[in-house]
Amino acid sequence: DLTPRPEHKFSFGLWTVGWPGIDPFGIATRPMLDPWEYAERLAELGAWGITFHDNDVYAFEATDAQREQATTRLKKAADDAGLVIEMVTTNTFTHPAFKDGGLTSNDRSVRRFGLRKIIRAVDMAAEMGASTFVMWGGREGAEYDGSKDLYGAFERYKEGLDTVAGYIKSKGYDLRIGLEPKPNEPRGDIFLPTVGHALAFIAQLEHGDIVGVNPETGHEQMANLNYTHQLAQALWSGKLFHIDLNGQRGLKYDQDLVFGHGDLTSAFFTVDLLENGFPGQPDAPRYDGPRHFDYKPSRTEHLLGVWESAKACMQTYLLLAEKAKAFRADPQVQEAMEYAGVSNLRVPTIAADETLEQFLAGDDGFDPDEAGRRDYGFVKLQQLAIQHLVG
Ligand code: GCO
Ligand code: MN
Ligand code: MN
Ligand code: MN
Repeated sequence: DLTPRPEHKFSFGLWTVGWPGIDPFGIATRPMLDPWEYAERLAELGAWGITFHDNDVYAFEATDAQREQATTRLKKAADDAGLVIEMVTTNTFTHPAFKDGGLTSNDRSVRRFGLRKIIRAVDMAAEMGASTFVMWGGREGAEYDGSKDLYGAFERYKEGLDTVAGYIKSKGYDLRIGLEPKPNEPRGDIFLPTVGHALAFIAQLEHGDIVGVNPETGHEQMANLNYTHQLAQALWSGKLFHIDLNGQRGLKYDQDLVFGHGDLTSAFFTVDLLENGFPGQPDAPRYDGPRHFDYKPSRTEHLLGVWESAKACMQTYLLLAEKAKAFRADPQVQEAMEYAGVSNLRVPTIAADETLEQFLAGDDGFDPDEAGRRDYGFVKLQQLAIQHLVG
């Protein structure tokens, strides 16, 4: 059954279906609706949740009364439609003031303004009932290496993050921060370019316990990395707080294609991990958060195509989930996994009752040449995945 339902926890950024097609080379190709109109339509399509930036709902220059009015109206529309506002984030990239960053701008007055704007959005996130606060530092970075005191930039990034996380704790909000890595675009080089960098940065924070990651398919692939591996390491670290699913085809600009319209085999294994967990590891961490799409309906499409693309994201996910279930349940696959030694990685290399001295004293009669002749059968296993995927 490929009908999206609330229990699938599909959610969409309002800026995704709401992107009117403006790019660096051309103006909008479709009209912009009000935020509540997108929410209502997404609910009709079977979505469970929505997410947004502060300025997706009210203008940068909105008065307090205008903010209040817009957020109240959106919250009511979401409640009426049965949609969860699961994540809220701040726009610290559109206004020219942020052209050198929000938390790491060389201009201290911008950093102070940016931090206040973020904290205001945290209050709004809590009011909207969100559980995740994403921070994508799209403008935190540089084009020219000489333009930054890089040590100072990391210090200020940490100061900013710890201030926001500390504020969340002081207010007792039930919110966790999801840092979103991206290697480049809009900056030539963005700080915290990959999941690994973000995890290392979080380890240096004072309030890192409520800070995790929000990895995006295309962003890791823009860095030539394996998205599923990044999700796995974040899960293993207890830091996979949120995800941004989309499609990307190779090392080029951030394409934000529909989920599965990029590297389909990679998308299959992403869904396999999300839906089925680590093979044979029932106690390993699982991701049970929103299946959140952060994509852009191609500029060639009008409103009809916008809704088709939203449906496509969910349908592709459900198709892959079905196929990934069948893949894991297939006795041939289980046999191939056994042959490949997949379950062997569960076994600690040194036995629990073995001392290091005992371990170092023996050699297990190991024959390196015989080990070198082992055939792992990974290709056969992969072909079984392909059979399930396209067969
Ligand atoms: C991008 C980013 C953004 C963020 C969004 C929420 O490449 O533009 O993915 O879409 O996800 O700003 O923080
Ligand atoms: Mn993106
Ligand atoms: Mn993107
Ligand atoms: Mn994103």
